[in-house]
Amino acid sequence: MSSSSVNGRLQPISAQNYLAWVAKAWVAVVLFGQMIFALYIVAVYVFPTLVGQTGVTHEVLPGTGTKNLSTFDGVLFFAHIVPAAVMAVSGLLQLLPSVRSNYPKLHRYNGRLFFTLGLSGALSGLYLTWVSGLRFSDIGSMGVTLNGILIVVFIALAWRTAIKRKFADHRRFAVHAYIAVNGVFSFRLYLMAWYLLNQGPNGNSRLVDGPMDITLSFASYLLPMLIAELVFWAQRSKQQRVKWGVSAFATIGLIYTFIGVGAAAMMMWGPRFQAVAAALS
Ligand code: HEM
Repeated sequence: MSSSSVNGRLQPISAQNYLAWVAKAWVAVVLFGQMIFALYIVAVYVFPTLVGQTGVTHEVLPGTGTKNLSTFDGVLFFAHIVPAAVMAVSGLLQLLPSVRSNYPKLHRYNGRLFFTLGLSGALSGLYLTWVSGLRFSDIGSMGVTLNGILIVVFIALAWRTAIKRKFADHRRFAVHAYIAVNGVFSFRLYLMAWYLLNQGPNGNSRLVDGPMDITLSFASYLLPMLIAELVFWAQRSKQQRVKWGVSAFATIGLIYTFIGVGAAAMMMWGPRFQAVAAALS
């Protein structure tokens, strides 16, 4: 593989540079997907609510939506979902190195916003799942439940280390907090990529409790967390073999995420968006 040209001759790319490129490409693909996800939330949840047509949203959701919920739970449902659009933009700002170095105050305030919304998303999600009963099945909800717990744990760690100015630890925990907060988003990517690659369900069920549903519900955050740890390790390692090995593994993660963004946009967000647009027109 070659990337740079010195005196007109192509130079082989170094393992370190390729590793950094894969990490950046993964972040770019995730952020692109998040922008589509944010637009989907605005179009499918926010807009119908603003024009007093909440019923339209319920009709396009795979579950019951808020149809059988009390007013409190219905309001909480929207309070759970709508901030995800804000978090997509807020997360983008936190990840941009130019914002971190040139606007440290923005990074600090935006970080507090992201963490506060993340905590509220995790706690309201746990409530909706286990108290309001918004779940397809008990076993199928285990993955997202651990996800909710990890969001709280990593946000607490990232926040604490920022206050104590332990910035190396803060960066590491903030990356895991970001991955955990995006677990719900990644689950949709992983599931739709799986459907696309298998040309339909394979180990999945209507109650989202098939073996692949359960595997993907845990993998949606544990796999990127593992890859992030491997990337940190490879960045520190002096061994080229380690760097190339981790790069290869991370490349597979990048390709799967890329497929997931396309699959979720085509098979999940797009059709729901079209259904809402048709119902409102
Ligand atoms: C901060 C992290 C989280 C964010 C940003 C978030 C965001 C969202 C969004 C955008 C939806 C709508 C999805 C769609 O229309 O496809 C949703 C649905 C839902 N979320 Fe979360 N969520 C988070 C964490 C959680 C957690 C930890 C749980 C449970 C433990 C949870 C439980 C639910 C439930 C029950 C629904 C409705 C049913 C469904 O669409 O699956 N969420 N969430």
